[in-house]
Amino acid sequence: MSIKRTDVLRVAVLASGRGSNLQAVIDAIEAGTVQAKIVAVISNKKDSPALERARLHGLPCFFVDPKPHVGQPDSRESYDRELLSLLRQHEVELVLLAGYMKIVTRVLVEAFANRMMNIHPSLLPSFPGLDVQQKAIEWGCKLAGCTVHFVTEGVDEGPIILQAAVPILDDDTAGTLAARILVQEHKIYPRAVQLFAEGRLRVEGRRVFVEQGKPVGEAVIGPS
Ligand code: GRF
Repeated sequence: MSIKRTDVLRVAVLASGRGSNLQAVIDAIEAGTVQAKIVAVISNKKDSPALERARLHGLPCFFVDPKPHVGQPDSRESYDRELLSLLRQHEVELVLLAGYMKIVTRVLVEAFANRMMNIHPSLLPSFPGLDVQQKAIEWGCKLAGCTVHFVTEGVDEGPIILQAAVPILDDDTAGTLAARILVQEHKIYPRAVQLFAEGRLRVEGRRVFVEQGKPVGEAVIGPS
């Protein structure tokens, strides 16, 4: 399946915290290295620094409160239906999870199959989940890194788009390693967005192939 676009790629970012990956994408767009437009920054945390960063750049910000959904039998799906409605209102083509600390359900995963990315601070499939820098150190790994992947229902399990590796040094703490990885995150996330914008990502099963350049304006989002 392929999507033909005449306008610039419409991106939404979901973030819960600090927002440095959001900032990297904003900076890349402003610098012209990523041809996309952020049409919504959405958080489940009212005071998220990510929302503040978005405001500073004049981007549309939305706090979507999880509380009204709590207690419902399908509270997570119900929350995601609210998000989906917002994403549709803004005609979003690509969703970026950037430090988004809620597990997305099939409501969003199916609506944005191969059109929703996440960044994770490990070399997946090693170390999905949380505290991954500490785990990599404790395992005695010599390399760590980060992964941009498409989002599927399994947490941190989707097809891998880009990865970057960094060394683990003898005196690393989780903090020093996280900082070294973060530098790479800020490079590969914007790069993945630009590849998507150029229509160069082709998904075959678990594998994502980066195709030779095609004109911007055509996004391949699955086998065509
Ligand atoms: C990053 O390390 C990212 O890989 C992980 O959560 C962290 C978010 O950082 N998913 P930030 O909010 O983008 O600064």
